[in-house]
Amino acid sequence: VARLRGADPLVGALGKHLALIGFMGAGKSTIGREVARLTHRPFVDTDEEIERVHGPIAGIFGELGEAEFRRIEERLVAEVLGAPEPSVVALGGGAVVSDSTRDRLRRSAFTVWIEVDDDVAWERVKGGDRPLARSREEFGRLALEREPYYHFANDEAAADFEDVLLVSLGVDFWPDGFREWGIGGDALIADERVLELHPPAWRRESTHPVPAGESAKRLDVLERLWGELGLSRDGSIVGFGGGSATDIAGFVAATYLRGVRWVAIPSTLTGQVDAAIGGKTGINLAGGKNLVGAFHFPAQVIVDPTLLGTLPDLERRAGMAEVVKTGLLAGRELWELPEEEMIRACAAFKAAVVLSDPYETEGRRTILNLGHTFAHALEAGSGYAVPHGDAVALGLLAALRLSGLPVDAVEETLRPEPVQADPDAAWAALRRDKKGEGVFVLLEAPGKPVVTTVRDQEARRALESLIRK
Ligand SMILES: NC(=O)c1ccc[n+]([C@@H]2O[C@H](COP(=O)([O-])OP(=O)(O)OC[C@H]3O[C@@H](n4cnc5c(N)ncnc54)[C@H](O)[C@@H]3O)[C@@H](O)[C@H]2O)c1
Repeated sequence: VARLRGADPLVGALGKHLALIGFMGAGKSTIGREVARLTHRPFVDTDEEIERVHGPIAGIFGELGEAEFRRIEERLVAEVLGAPEPSVVALGGGAVVSDSTRDRLRRSAFTVWIEVDDDVAWERVKGGDRPLARSREEFGRLALEREPYYHFANDEAAADFEDVLLVSLGVDFWPDGFREWGIGGDALIADERVLELHPPAWRRESTHPVPAGESAKRLDVLERLWGELGLSRDGSIVGFGGGSATDIAGFVAATYLRGVRWVAIPSTLTGQVDAAIGGKTGINLAGGKNLVGAFHFPAQVIVDPTLLGTLPDLERRAGMAEVVKTGLLAGRELWELPEEEMIRACAAFKAAVVLSDPYETEGRRTILNLGHTFAHALEAGSGYAVPHGDAVALGLLAALRLSGLPVDAVEETLRPEPVQADPDAAWAALRRDKKGEGVFVLLEAPGKPVVTTVRDQEARRALESLIRK
């Protein structure tokens, strides 16, 4: 937490408890449990915990009265929010009526209001044993009474578990909203090609185009941007383009005046499901990709899927490879969803992994490398002639084969074909990447990634099966 406070303006639920508030029947417990599972955080449901210690809530209300119940609840919330390890906590519907609870939430939690329609909530709770849900009329009155407290206490509102994950890392879905955009940052760093295709409403004098794609991530471009910006410490940067543009814009933001606030607007599928989310920023050196960089979380990531209308096929394929990777890691056929839902689900999964291990210190973020070890080896072994997306598709194929799992998802969605590459150079690159340890991300089953060792002979055979004879 200290590190987050020092290096970044605290973004969303990073390093903080994630508290879910809202009326009874909103789904806080179900959503909270799923969010905790995906972010690998402990989960506390305050009502359940109170029942575990003190017996049924209806009994506490009957014997000790509501005021005593609220005192017990207040003490429990204080204890949970006082714990150092960030957790996910689902609060009872009335918990936020307490001034001290709201104060604690403000200080040590990112608080998400799970909004629900009264009728839907009533259908879920009627006939149960909740002491405050005896009649529809009383239920409706209470919902109205509580609403101002939820309004007052929340940092963000959400409707489902994916929403919770997205808002917890500042990711906003904003279809079409982009067209109106033009406020919220002092300098725009944008991929020059994207700038032409999707000109935003922006002052020309504070627009800084960078070369299209990967060639933006260069030291000379970085140096030019540092020189041009002229921002003050409270200035902010908007990065607009694919992963290349957001990587350099984020790195400029991380380093300029020791760090200024930034917002990412990804314009590629790869950017929207992966690259713009998670705070990794950086540039390439002659010796390799992403060799200089920093963790610097964007305060906001604006995802506008309508930007993808102009994306070339090759770039879309590369994005789909990341989508299939994400689906395999999540154990859901996300690639089958309609585009907007697919992007939202993948972005939410990435946000969850990042929240579970923001600075890649717990090993959990490593799972995102599924298929990428082989991909990097093929890219290096072909002298970078194999496009990244095709290499990732083949890498996923190898990872599934080594996992002993069916490969249909990759075959049908990505249609990978073996590529031309030098097997010895590819193997040498793979060994370098692994630093000789032979550790790979594989799957026990879809949704169950494992970081495990693979014998050299097996790894080499898997790699060679991806190379055209
Ligand atoms: N920071 C991270 O966590 C992370 C994760 C994954 C990848 N990356 C980085 O992302 C980079 C790759 O990014 P990418 O795949 O998004 O592509 P990219 O940014 O390199 O862009 C690829 C091409 O697509 C064009 N383009 C972008 N948006 C367009 C649009 N809407 N319409 C038409 N053309 C468009 C660009 O001009 C460029 O020519 C790599 O440098 C990689 O290292 C970073």
